[in-house]
Amino acid sequence: VQDSPSTRDGAAFRDTVRLVADEPAIARAAAALARGGLVAFPTETVYGLGADATSPQAVASLYAAKGRPRFNPLIVHVTDLAQARRHGVFDAAATVLAERFWPGPLTLVVPAAGGAVCDLARAGLASVALRVPAHPIAARLVEAAGRPVVAPSANLSGRISPTQASHVMNDLSGRIDFVLDGGATAIGLESSIVACLEDGPRLLRPGGLARHEIEDALGTSIASGSAGGAQPLAPGALASHYAPRAHVRLDARTVAPGEAALLFGPIRPSGLDGAAAVLNLSETADLHEAAATLFAHLHRLDQSRAAVIAVAPIPEWGLGEAINDRLKRAAAGR
Ligand code: TXA
Ligand code: MG
Repeated sequence: VQDSPSTRDGAAFRDTVRLVADEPAIARAAAALARGGLVAFPTETVYGLGADATSPQAVASLYAAKGRPRFNPLIVHVTDLAQARRHGVFDAAATVLAERFWPGPLTLVVPAAGGAVCDLARAGLASVALRVPAHPIAARLVEAAGRPVVAPSANLSGRISPTQASHVMNDLSGRIDFVLDGGATAIGLESSIVACLEDGPRLLRPGGLARHEIEDALGTSIASGSAGGAQPLAPGALASHYAPRAHVRLDARTVAPGEAALLFGPIRPSGLDGAAAVLNLSETADLHEAAATLFAHLHRLDQSRAAVIAVAPIPEWGLGEAINDRLKRAAAGR
């Protein structure tokens, strides 16, 4: 039984086909993108929901499928720096970062250069967010599509980002055309977003590339957040971003009976025996492993139906900055 389109906040119903992402499947998915369709695909960070960045109709249907409350600017995925230069103006800092980290988990916000990206994809801004994904399926899909591809994370608005094809199906089945299944994503956190505009480089969103790597490449420390003015905050400015159904309790050193517990490292909090479910982000306290498992573990603990997920303290260095950023947003509730 299908939901009627009217129950899907304007997203037209479609039979979503999940495909093992071999070359013929990528060709089918690329053809769907060229027709204005919606295709979820793995990147090295999280699964993205792709649409033709040059088509306002396709971008509008993407917003509808995600149930986004309003039009946020989207990340435009391209094949390489030469393609990116068609859509954005790269100053010295942006060039250094692109040459050093692309393809990879870094998004650069630069002045828009005209080009073919539609206004709706940029939410009307004078800047554009660009990324060259490293995942071979993402890279092949963007190449085969023969056009820039916008791709927000492939989840319903406000929900946890997907790191497996099954997460995408749970949120978006019936709303999109294809899911290319490439297994679990390696990094597990969205890309780091750095703005390179008039006022120098700024880290708009901590993510899969640690701050110190960006600062090492630039030879200087960089400011955080949107330094006031016209730029919108990067994602998750909405407090409800990344929210599981359960309440999330941070810096938990004890676990109350019936709570789900999300651990980090070898420390066992008191009360753990009474937990409804227990998962560990990384037994060895490895922040890369913790980033890769974070969203999948939040999905699983949420499915335990516990009312509260108690999360152990996570250090703030390296990828810990981005992990704690996502956890704070999850704890802010919906
Ligand atoms: O890892 C990722 O970045 C994933 C994969 C699929 O590539 N994509 C992703 O997209 O996380 P999304 O839509 O969930 O987050 C993109 C965010 C937007 O919410 C927006 O705040 C920010 O990028 N952004 C895009 N264009 C911007 C601009 N011109 N100025 C400031 N922020 C911008
Ligand atoms: Mg997202």
